[in-house]
Amino acid sequence: MARTPLAYSLITAAFLVSIPVVLAAQQPNIVVILADDFGWHDVGYHSSEISTPNLDKLSAAGVRLENYYVQPLCTPSRNQLMTGRYQIHTGMQHQIIWPCQPYCVPLDEKMLPQLMKEAGYATHMVGKWHLGMYKKDCLPTRRGFDTYFGYLTGSEDYFTHVRCVPIPALELTRCALDLREGEEVAAGYKGVYSTELLTQRATSIIGKHNSNKPLFLYVALQAVHAPLQVPQRYVAPYSFIKDPNRRLYAGMVSAMDEAVGNITLALQQGGLWDNTILVFSTDNGGQTLTGGSNWPLRGRKWSLWEGGIRGVAFVASPLLKQPGTVSRELIHVSDWLPTLVGLAGGSTNGSKPLDGFNVWNTISKGFASPRLELLHNIDPLYVDIAPCPGTKRQLTLDQVVSGASRANSGFNVSIHAAIRSSNWKLLTGYPGCDVWFPQPGHNASESSRSMVDPLKSVMLFDIEKDPEERNELSAQFPTVVDYLLRRLQQYQKRTVPINFPSDDPRCDPGPTGAWGPWA
Ligand SMILES: *[C@@H]1O[C@H](CO)[C@@H](O)[C@H](O)[C@H]1NC(C)=O
Ligand SMILES: *[C@@H]1O[C@H](CO)[C@@H](O)[C@H](O)[C@H]1NC(C)=O
Ligand SMILES: *[C@@H]1O[C@H](CO)[C@@H](O)[C@H](O)[C@H]1NC(C)=O
Ligand SMILES: *[C@@H]1O[C@H](CO)[C@@H](O)[C@H](O)[C@H]1NC(C)=O
Repeated sequence: MARTPLAYSLITAAFLVSIPVVLAAQQPNIVVILADDFGWHDVGYHSSEISTPNLDKLSAAGVRLENYYVQPLCTPSRNQLMTGRYQIHTGMQHQIIWPCQPYCVPLDEKMLPQLMKEAGYATHMVGKWHLGMYKKDCLPTRRGFDTYFGYLTGSEDYFTHVRCVPIPALELTRCALDLREGEEVAAGYKGVYSTELLTQRATSIIGKHNSNKPLFLYVALQAVHAPLQVPQRYVAPYSFIKDPNRRLYAGMVSAMDEAVGNITLALQQGGLWDNTILVFSTDNGGQTLTGGSNWPLRGRKWSLWEGGIRGVAFVASPLLKQPGTVSRELIHVSDWLPTLVGLAGGSTNGSKPLDGFNVWNTISKGFASPRLELLHNIDPLYVDIAPCPGTKRQLTLDQVVSGASRANSGFNVSIHAAIRSSNWKLLTGYPGCDVWFPQPGHNASESSRSMVDPLKSVMLFDIEKDPEERNELSAQFPTVVDYLLRRLQQYQKRTVPINFPSDDPRCDPGPTGAWGPWA
């Protein structure tokens, strides 16, 4: 077939133009949606009374991660997601970053968005940061995100986006806006429900995305963290739930589920979906004080019991090799960094030693997980600040001393710590609120409290056989105990000292300011 020179040059031009498109197509778009305080029993597919049609449908066509772990609190999970490293290696093993604390994830840690950017991605973040903001260098836009829209701290009002913080040194409680666009204060969104506001921003980024570059989008929803606030239309279907906290919470979950549906729809309508990997994960277990449930697991957010750390998560993508499956392989939130950078064809060469593993073959093809061990945490300063129902079950000194003399690992067993190795989980010190909270709508059975052994300073559970942590086995398996205590001691030796500075009253943005960098 004869070609005119014009047609020929057009074809050539089209070919040249299409090269970057072809290259980009090999790199998948990656969208990570993080829910906040979303409990194990709060997703439809865990037989919840809350309905989550979008999460159910997406995960049913994807891979549900049923042996997946997060950290028990917001900042720690986000920290590990962004660095691929355990908290003991960043000095952030204690609690969260409170709004007036002058610190952030160490600036020499290379974060996930930086690595994605180096791999050629457009990088966007929408939602809750919570990784420090006392100086500008700590902000998301200085740590690898091209754009950012969201909350720098946590616990804002869902409609006004105001966060109130007591500042004892100034003898006042400051209520100020916590919403930023890039590095600027984002005023003008008062009255817009955060779940919808953040979703709208995410879908608009997707809609405007130039597909010459692959997309990395991190959506850290405020939902379903307290305060319990939600437009009435989401609560209406839950009039059958008697507990008012649970009812509001259920409505918030429905809005969050709709958010995930809207984001997915935007990816489909934007023509990105066929080459997208969507990760959905909670950041920690549910908070039973504000409507969440981790039933039948023990404990809750802020504890190292399964209720605090076993997370709801799934991957949805047309690129999965075995879609429609359930993974029971051990996977941890720190694994996303090497996994996603691997998918991006990027390199983690510039990173400090990672604690995460590339688990893509495990998720996509059902291979055995490369992760054989998981350090949940070691935090010598741990305190449980929320009221825990029932008897006061903090360890007595006697129990601590007898525990300490049992093992000669060198590990101080009054320290709050936990480690997992294949089926075994060892806990030391006080793990946090240890109650088996009843299934929502049910009363606690008498036996569930009276049959409980007192807490010991060293406890061992076979999590595969006993995910509810009911049968304490340390006396039956002393060699397993000794081995895991030695592993804890090895981790302890390489621990970076805890960085948990006192509040800096200069954080105060004044009566008309917004929370943000002050140093
Ligand atoms: C989802 O999209 C619909 C239609 O645009 C919108 O009415 C709704 O508010 C969105 N939901 C969320 C949670 O953003
Ligand atoms: C990362 O480092 C290894 C070993 O030094 C090298 O073989 C590899 O090519 C590097 N990868 C990239 C993408 O730079
Ligand atoms: C063991 O850890 C506890 C809790 O962190 C601490 O109070 C105690 O001083 C430690 N004991 C020793 C001998 O280091
Ligand atoms: C729970 O216990 C209360 C008080 O004993 C009782 O009134 C209520 O009916 C019980 N609820 C259920 C669901 O069993």
